[in-house]
Amino acid sequence: MDRAIPKHIAIIMDGNGRWAKKRLLPKKMGHKAGADALKKLLKKVEKTDIEHITVYAFSTENWKRDKQEVDDLMKLLKDYIGQYIKESEENNLIIDTIGDISVLSKDLQEDLAHLKELSSKNTGLKLHIALNYGGRDEIIRAIKKVAIDVKENNIEIDNITEDLFSSYLDTKEYQDPELIVRTSGELRTSNFLVWQSAYSEFYFSDKLWPDFTFEDLEKAINAYQKRERRFGGRLDG
Ligand code: FPP
Repeated sequence: MDRAIPKHIAIIMDGNGRWAKKRLLPKKMGHKAGADALKKLLKKVEKTDIEHITVYAFSTENWKRDKQEVDDLMKLLKDYIGQYIKESEENNLIIDTIGDISVLSKDLQEDLAHLKELSSKNTGLKLHIALNYGGRDEIIRAIKKVAIDVKENNIEIDNITEDLFSSYLDTKEYQDPELIVRTSGELRTSNFLVWQSAYSEFYFSDKLWPDFTFEDLEKAINAYQKRERRFGGRLDG
Protein backbone atom coordinates (compact mmCIF):
# COMPACT_ATOMS: atom_id res chain seq x y z
CA MET A 1 0.00 0.00 0.00
CA ASP A 2 1.29 3.45 -0.83
CA ARG A 3 2.13 5.68 2.07
CA ALA A 4 0.27 8.78 3.08
CA ILE A 5 1.33 12.19 1.86
CA PRO A 6 4.25 13.57 3.94
CA LYS A 7 3.26 16.11 6.57
CA HIS A 8 6.65 17.81 6.52
CA ILE A 9 8.77 18.36 3.41
CA ALA A 10 12.13 20.12 3.54
CA ILE A 11 13.66 21.63 0.41
CA ILE A 12 17.22 22.52 -0.60
CA MET A 13 16.56 25.14 -3.27
CA ASP A 14 19.72 24.73 -5.35
CA GLY A 15 20.63 25.93 -8.83
CA ASN A 16 19.67 29.61 -8.88
CA GLY A 17 23.16 30.63 -10.01
CA ARG A 18 23.22 28.12 -12.89
CA TRP A 19 19.70 29.13 -13.93
CA ALA A 20 20.87 32.75 -14.25
CA LYS A 21 24.12 31.80 -16.00
CA LYS A 22 22.27 29.79 -18.65
CA ARG A 23 20.29 32.93 -19.45
CA LEU A 24 23.31 35.25 -19.26
CA LEU A 25 21.64 37.05 -16.37
CA PRO A 26 23.27 38.32 -13.16
CA LYS A 27 23.22 35.79 -10.32
CA LYS A 28 20.82 37.89 -8.29
CA MET A 29 18.18 37.43 -10.99
CA GLY A 30 18.54 33.70 -10.43
CA HIS A 31 17.90 34.13 -6.70
CA LYS A 32 14.92 36.35 -7.48
CA ALA A 33 13.51 33.74 -9.85
CA GLY A 34 14.11 31.20 -7.05
CA ALA A 35 12.16 33.27 -4.54
CA ASP A 36 9.31 33.62 -7.07
CA ALA A 37 9.33 29.86 -7.70
CA LEU A 38 8.95 29.31 -3.96
CA LYS A 39 5.99 31.69 -3.69
CA LYS A 40 4.26 30.00 -6.62
CA LEU A 41 4.88 26.54 -5.18
CA LEU A 42 3.54 27.50 -1.73
CA LYS A 43 0.24 28.68 -3.23
CA LYS A 44 -0.38 25.13 -4.48
CA VAL A 45 1.04 23.38 -1.41
CA GLU A 46 -1.47 25.37 0.68
CA LYS A 47 -4.23 23.36 -0.96
CA THR A 48 -2.78 19.96 0.03
CA ASP A 49 -2.54 18.04 3.32
CA ILE A 50 1.13 18.99 3.70
CA GLU A 51 1.47 20.85 7.00
CA HIS A 52 5.11 21.99 7.09
CA ILE A 53 7.59 23.16 4.49
CA THR A 54 11.16 23.98 5.53
CA VAL A 55 13.32 25.80 2.98
CA TYR A 56 17.08 26.32 3.05
CA ALA A 57 17.32 30.04 2.21
CA PHE A 58 20.75 30.92 3.62
CA SER A 59 23.26 28.55 5.19
CA THR A 60 26.02 29.22 7.72
CA GLU A 61 28.40 28.49 4.81
CA ASN A 62 26.79 31.00 2.43
CA TRP A 63 28.71 33.86 4.13
CA LYS A 64 31.76 32.60 2.20
CA ARG A 65 30.24 33.78 -1.09
CA ASP A 66 31.45 37.10 -2.43
CA LYS A 67 30.17 40.15 -0.58
CA GLN A 68 28.06 41.37 -3.48
CA GLU A 69 26.14 38.09 -3.65
CA VAL A 70 25.60 38.00 0.13
CA ASP A 71 24.36 41.61 0.05
CA ASP A 72 22.06 40.83 -2.88
CA LEU A 73 20.64 37.79 -1.10
CA MET A 74 20.01 39.81 2.09
CA LYS A 75 18.27 42.53 0.05
CA LEU A 76 16.17 39.94 -1.70
CA LEU A 77 15.20 38.35 1.60
CA LYS A 78 14.20 41.72 3.01
CA ASP A 79 12.11 42.41 -0.05
CA TYR A 80 10.33 39.04 0.09
CA ILE A 81 9.81 39.20 3.86
CA GLY A 82 8.15 42.59 3.18
CA GLN A 83 5.91 40.96 0.58
CA TYR A 84 5.00 38.09 2.92
CA ILE A 85 4.11 40.68 5.59
CA LYS A 86 1.81 42.54 3.17
CA GLU A 87 0.21 39.35 1.92
CA SER A 88 0.00 37.62 5.28
CA GLU A 89 -3.78 37.70 5.62
CA GLU A 90 -4.32 36.52 2.07
CA ASN A 91 -1.70 33.71 1.96
CA ASN A 92 -2.63 32.36 5.44
CA LEU A 93 0.93 31.06 5.96
CA ILE A 94 2.36 30.67 9.45
CA ILE A 95 6.01 31.65 9.07
CA ASP A 96 9.00 31.25 11.36
CA THR A 97 12.76 30.76 11.00
CA ILE A 98 15.36 28.23 12.04
CA GLY A 99 19.03 29.10 12.38
CA ASP A 100 20.87 31.80 14.28
CA ILE A 101 19.31 35.02 13.05
CA SER A 102 21.02 37.15 15.71
CA VAL A 103 23.82 38.00 13.25
CA LEU A 104 21.47 39.33 10.56
CA SER A 105 20.91 43.08 10.24
CA LYS A 106 18.67 44.64 12.92
CA ASP A 107 16.33 45.68 10.14
CA LEU A 108 15.84 42.18 8.84
CA GLN A 109 15.49 40.80 12.37
CA GLU A 110 12.72 43.31 13.09
CA ASP A 111 10.90 42.43 9.88
CA LEU A 112 11.18 38.74 10.69
CA ALA A 113 9.83 39.30 14.22
CA HIS A 114 6.94 41.27 12.74
CA LEU A 115 6.21 38.56 10.16
CA LYS A 116 6.31 35.81 12.80
CA GLU A 117 3.96 37.71 15.08
CA LEU A 118 1.56 38.67 12.29
CA SER A 119 1.47 35.26 10.64
CA SER A 120 0.98 33.43 13.96
CA LYS A 121 -2.68 34.47 13.66
CA ASN A 122 -2.98 32.48 10.43
CA THR A 123 -4.22 28.91 10.18
CA GLY A 124 -2.62 27.51 7.01
CA LEU A 125 0.64 25.92 5.95
CA LYS A 126 3.63 26.37 8.25
CA LEU A 127 6.68 27.72 6.44
CA HIS A 128 10.00 27.41 8.24
CA ILE A 129 12.74 29.50 6.63
CA ALA A 130 16.28 28.31 7.39
CA LEU A 131 18.36 31.48 7.69
CA ASN A 132 21.99 31.48 8.74
CA TYR A 133 21.21 27.83 9.37
CA GLY A 134 23.64 24.95 9.62
CA GLY A 135 22.76 21.55 11.07
CA ARG A 136 26.05 21.28 12.95
CA ASP A 137 25.73 24.83 14.25
CA GLU A 138 22.21 24.04 15.47
CA ILE A 139 23.48 20.93 17.28
CA ILE A 140 26.33 22.87 18.92
CA ARG A 141 23.90 25.61 20.04
CA ALA A 142 21.63 22.92 21.48
CA ILE A 143 24.54 21.21 23.29
CA LYS A 144 25.48 24.52 24.90
CA LYS A 145 21.91 24.98 26.16
CA VAL A 146 21.84 21.40 27.50
CA ALA A 147 25.20 21.99 29.24
CA ILE A 148 23.85 25.11 30.93
CA ASP A 149 20.77 23.20 32.12
CA VAL A 150 22.98 20.41 33.49
CA LYS A 151 25.23 22.96 35.22
CA GLU A 152 22.24 24.72 36.76
CA ASN A 153 20.76 21.39 37.88
CA ASN A 154 17.66 21.75 35.69
CA ILE A 155 18.32 18.34 34.13
CA GLU A 156 20.32 15.23 35.04
CA ILE A 157 22.86 13.78 32.59
CA ASP A 158 21.08 10.42 32.81
CA ASN A 159 17.86 12.03 31.62
CA ILE A 160 19.35 13.20 28.31
CA THR A 161 17.47 11.22 25.67
CA GLU A 162 16.91 11.74 21.94
CA ASP A 163 13.53 13.30 22.69
CA LEU A 164 14.97 15.64 25.29
CA PHE A 165 17.80 16.67 22.96
CA SER A 166 15.31 17.32 20.15
CA SER A 167 13.52 19.75 22.44
CA TYR A 168 16.66 21.95 22.43
CA LEU A 169 16.79 22.20 18.63
CA ASP A 170 15.35 25.04 16.52
CA THR A 171 12.75 22.59 15.18
CA LYS A 172 11.51 21.54 18.64
CA GLU A 173 7.89 22.41 17.96
CA TYR A 174 7.28 20.11 15.01
CA GLN A 175 8.01 16.70 13.59
CA ASP A 176 11.05 15.72 11.50
CA PRO A 177 10.66 15.88 7.70
CA GLU A 178 9.57 12.60 6.11
CA LEU A 179 10.88 13.86 2.77
CA ILE A 180 13.80 16.09 1.80
CA VAL A 181 14.05 17.38 -1.77
CA ARG A 182 17.16 18.84 -3.36
CA THR A 183 17.15 20.37 -6.82
CA SER A 184 19.85 20.93 -9.46
CA GLY A 185 21.25 17.41 -9.55
CA GLU A 186 23.60 17.74 -6.58
CA LEU A 187 23.61 14.62 -4.41
CA ARG A 188 24.51 16.13 -1.01
CA THR A 189 22.65 17.37 2.02
CA SER A 190 25.04 20.26 2.75
CA ASN A 191 24.57 20.53 6.53
CA PHE A 192 20.77 20.76 6.29
CA LEU A 193 18.70 19.30 9.15
CA VAL A 194 21.54 16.99 10.20
CA TRP A 195 19.77 15.60 13.29
CA GLN A 196 16.23 15.72 11.90
CA SER A 197 17.01 13.87 8.65
CA ALA A 198 18.07 10.62 10.36
CA TYR A 199 15.04 8.77 8.92
CA SER A 200 14.02 11.12 6.09
CA GLU A 201 13.66 9.93 2.54
CA PHE A 202 15.69 11.94 0.03
CA TYR A 203 14.60 12.93 -3.45
CA PHE A 204 16.98 14.55 -5.90
CA SER A 205 15.68 16.45 -8.92
CA ASP A 206 17.77 17.55 -11.89
CA LYS A 207 15.66 20.68 -12.31
CA LEU A 208 17.27 23.97 -11.32
CA TRP A 209 15.33 25.51 -8.43
CA PRO A 210 13.68 28.39 -10.38
CA ASP A 211 12.26 25.79 -12.81
CA PHE A 212 10.92 23.52 -10.05
CA THR A 213 7.11 23.40 -10.05
CA PHE A 214 4.32 21.88 -8.00
CA GLU A 215 4.15 19.05 -10.56
CA ASP A 216 7.82 18.28 -9.78
CA LEU A 217 6.99 18.23 -6.07
CA GLU A 218 4.14 15.82 -6.82
CA LYS A 219 6.66 13.54 -8.56
CA ALA A 220 8.85 13.65 -5.44
CA ILE A 221 5.85 12.82 -3.26
CA ASN A 222 4.86 9.93 -5.54
CA ALA A 223 8.38 8.51 -5.35
CA TYR A 224 8.31 8.88 -1.56
CA GLN A 225 4.96 7.13 -1.33
CA LYS A 226 6.32 4.13 -3.22
CA ARG A 227 9.32 3.65 -0.94
CA GLU A 228 9.26 1.40 2.11
CA ARG A 229 10.04 3.07 5.42
CA ARG A 230 11.18 0.57 8.00
CA PHE A 231 13.08 2.67 10.54
CA GLY A 232 15.58 -0.17 10.80
CA GLY A 233 12.86 -2.77 11.40
CA ARG A 234 11.26 -5.32 9.06
CA LEU A 235 7.99 -4.94 7.21
CA ASP A 236 6.88 -8.45 8.21
CA GLY A 237 7.36 -7.64 11.90
C1 FPP B 1 21.33 28.02 -3.96
O1 FPP B 1 21.54 28.31 -5.35
C2 FPP B 1 20.38 28.94 -3.41
C3 FPP B 1 20.63 29.85 -2.42
C4 FPP B 1 21.95 29.95 -1.76
C5 FPP B 1 19.61 30.80 -1.97
C6 FPP B 1 18.20 30.31 -1.94
C7 FPP B 1 17.31 31.46 -1.67
C8 FPP B 1 16.16 31.71 -2.33
C9 FPP B 1 15.58 30.85 -3.38
C10 FPP B 1 15.35 32.90 -1.92
C11 FPP B 1 14.36 32.44 -0.88
C12 FPP B 1 13.49 33.52 -0.47
C13 FPP B 1 12.70 33.46 0.63
C14 FPP B 1 11.83 34.61 0.92
C15 FPP B 1 12.72 32.33 1.58
P1 FPP B 1 23.02 28.56 -5.87
O2 FPP B 1 23.24 30.03 -5.97
O3 FPP B 1 24.00 27.83 -5.00
O4 FPP B 1 22.95 27.92 -7.28
P2 FPP B 1 24.21 27.43 -8.12
O5 FPP B 1 24.74 26.22 -7.41
O6 FPP B 1 23.63 27.10 -9.45
O7 FPP B 1 25.19 28.58 -8.18
